[in-house]
Amino acid sequence: MPDITRNILWSVLAAGTAFASLPASSAHADNAPADLLARGEYLATAGDCVACHTAPGGKPFAGGLKIATPMGDVVSTNITPDPDHGIGKYTEEDFEKSLRQGIRRDGSHLYPAMPYVSYSGLTDGDVKALYAWFMHGVKPVAVTPPTTSLNFPANMRVAMAAWNMLASNTPPESGDSATFDKLRRGRYLANALEHCGTCHTPRNMMLSEEQDSYLAGAPLVGWYAPNITSSKTSGIGNWSEDTLVQYLHTGHVDGLSQAAGPMGEAVEHSTSHLTDEDLHALAAYILQVPAKEDSAEHKPRESFGQPVEAADVRSGDLTRIDDLSEMSGQYIYDANCAACHGPNGAGTSDHYAPSLFHNSVTGAGRPDNLIMTILNGVDRTADGQHVHMPGFDHDSDVQRLSDNEIASVANYVMTTFGSGDHAATPEQVAKLRKDIAKTP
Ligand code: HEC
Ligand code: HEC
Ligand code: HEC
Repeated sequence: MPDITRNILWSVLAAGTAFASLPASSAHADNAPADLLARGEYLATAGDCVACHTAPGGKPFAGGLKIATPMGDVVSTNITPDPDHGIGKYTEEDFEKSLRQGIRRDGSHLYPAMPYVSYSGLTDGDVKALYAWFMHGVKPVAVTPPTTSLNFPANMRVAMAAWNMLASNTPPESGDSATFDKLRRGRYLANALEHCGTCHTPRNMMLSEEQDSYLAGAPLVGWYAPNITSSKTSGIGNWSEDTLVQYLHTGHVDGLSQAAGPMGEAVEHSTSHLTDEDLHALAAYILQVPAKEDSAEHKPRESFGQPVEAADVRSGDLTRIDDLSEMSGQYIYDANCAACHGPNGAGTSDHYAPSLFHNSVTGAGRPDNLIMTILNGVDRTADGQHVHMPGFDHDSDVQRLSDNEIASVANYVMTTFGSGDHAATPEQVAKLRKDIAKTP
């Protein structure tokens, strides 16, 4: 499939993205029962509606987030209950159609930037609760975001009708989702609400998720959403339920994995707000997803590396400099990373800055997430803790690193602390920089 076609959806779907603030808590609960509203608010958090429907610095749910695609920007719409600018005139039936079928009130088809393919699995009761909360719990905002105008041929909303027929929409679940048993509840949360597969499942030629490679790992814009099937070599088959719960609740598990980029966003806005019971249901379901192997990863990502002895110059035991690019990588590491991650890569003693060995990013078979972390840094608030690593891109306040320098330090880190088997190139860094410039 041509790169350009892949990119659209990837960028669009990776957009569970930055800058959104949390939903304003319920304004006035005119005539809907409080428990229905509370349920709707919780579902909206699990479905992460705010992430896409809020512009940088804008009012929650007022739309205007630009989701960049190679064919132009798809702009999210205002879904506050304002009658003229938002969805105030939507009946429950109109709302249901947008959410589960991707058809909006005027009958036109939504672009799949709106994850209706996932939301199609929502139960009737949950659609009702979401509708009640959007109508009564969200403050109306009177702004109309700019309209989406994609270049030919993507501007044909009509084409979306065909796409919708081909993309295998999940039929809605029946019954009361609150009474589902643990695994069914976990499956429901993962698929109909959290849309984990939107990022972690690869897509076929028709851009629908390949169900036989469910959660087997897929490229996003710049980032790579890793294999999270139960494979013990390529996936997360060695994680316990409690470990996965901790990751989804806080975004950080010592000596294993941290959540940056789009996953950091998903943790911050969505999974960190789920109840303990729901997190356990979600984790239990994810951990039993059939294993899928990945030829680039044949040893668990977190199993690589050990502290590196800091060279003792006094011993006179000098290393030969055969590979200049690796030497410069070590130099760049010492100057820019060692202050936090330690000269030996062990991180800070309180684990605020994580160790770079036994780390799923450095142990991956692809350097993409390492390069993206170096470019973007990490900025995540979850479970009352804010973590920050500066980025080293062109607009960095700490240090701007060139494509060459980033490729060298990434190679140094991958070979010294991690899997070592993939070489980053300056061209790849340049390409990833461009990819980030495309996302808002
Ligand atoms: C990954 C990003 C994303 C997420 C998450 C998301 N949306 Fe959307 N949504 C969009 C975009 C983009 C559009 C506009 C698409 C278009 O113009 O075709 C949209 C359109 C809509 C519309 C149609 C409004 C109109 O008249 O244009 C409704 C209703 C809606 N979303 C509700 C929701 C709800 C409720 C949730 C959470 C359960 C949600 N969305 C989550 C991206 C998202
Ligand atoms: C918007 C895209 C997106 C969504 C939605 C998403 N993920 Fe992720 N996920 C990623 C990316 C990208 C990474 C890599 C993050 C990093 O390296 O910092 C990741 C990393 C992970 C990891 C760590 C894997 C490892 O080996 O370190 C787990 C576990 C995970 N995701 C589970 C989930 C689950 C469960 C869901 C649904 C509740 C989910 N993700 C939803 C994009 C996403
Ligand atoms: C000011 C301190 C600081 C500096 C300097 C720093 N880091 Fe980090 N690094 C952090 C923190 C904090 C985190 C996030 C921990 C978390 O997610 O809980 C992090 C996370 C990471 C991760 C894991 C990201 C993920 O997605 O899982 C990698 C890899 C990493 N840093 C590499 C580097 C490299 C390479 C450099 C130098 C170019 C560097 N760091 C410079 C503090 C720092």
